[in-house]
Amino acid sequence: MQIIKATKKDRAEAMKIATDLKDWFNKEGLKNMKIDFELNNLVVAKEDGKVSGFLCYSSFSGKMLLMWMGVAKEAQRKGVGQELLKWLEDEGRKFGFHAIEVETLPDEDSYEPYQRTRAFYYKNGFERVLYKKARVQGWDDQIVLEKKL
Ligand SMILES: CC(C)(COP(=O)(O)OP(=O)(O)OC[C@H]1O[C@@H](n2cnc3c(N)ncnc32)[C@H](O)[C@@H]1OP(=O)(O)O)[C@@H](O)C(=O)NCCC(=O)NCCS
Repeated sequence: MQIIKATKKDRAEAMKIATDLKDWFNKEGLKNMKIDFELNNLVVAKEDGKVSGFLCYSSFSGKMLLMWMGVAKEAQRKGVGQELLKWLEDEGRKFGFHAIEVETLPDEDSYEPYQRTRAFYYKNGFERVLYKKARVQGWDDQIVLEKKL
């Protein structure tokens, strides 16, 4: 498996993967993701030339911000997510950053698919540091998870 900076074609493949992850990403999320892919950094996991997972990130004030990640349904639980995360950790350490931050649905929210998402982050060393109440009607509360580098 290779982790590389996405080309335009990879970006389209990553969007297709996200579109198929319907339990996690709705229409509004996908619309925002497309813009975030263009304005920020995107890396993809590739096997035999085919994209199996993606991770979109930026940096702010000594931290990596993990914006979006996803692994194709058929490629999940094979270590692709962990490889993508490891790539971001290495990249963060290169710059001397102290942490990676990600936002997700709170543990208090019973929606099952995101229980799996949190299981992935907690397994990979993220800790819950903040609870953010939704400030816009229709948005969900979020928690901030942090992994120290
Ligand atoms: C979360 C996600 C990126 C993880 O990628 P992945 O390639 O499936 O995960 P990995 O195989 O690297 O998993 C590493 C470890 O995390 C934990 N983990 C991963 N998926 C899990 C799940 N569904 N349930 C419980 N634990 C899980 C496990 O401990 C796993 O190790 P194991 O398989 O040896 O038990 C992927 O499942 C996904 O795309 N989910 C939907 C989208 C999403 O939630 N994106 C993040 C929010 S933007």
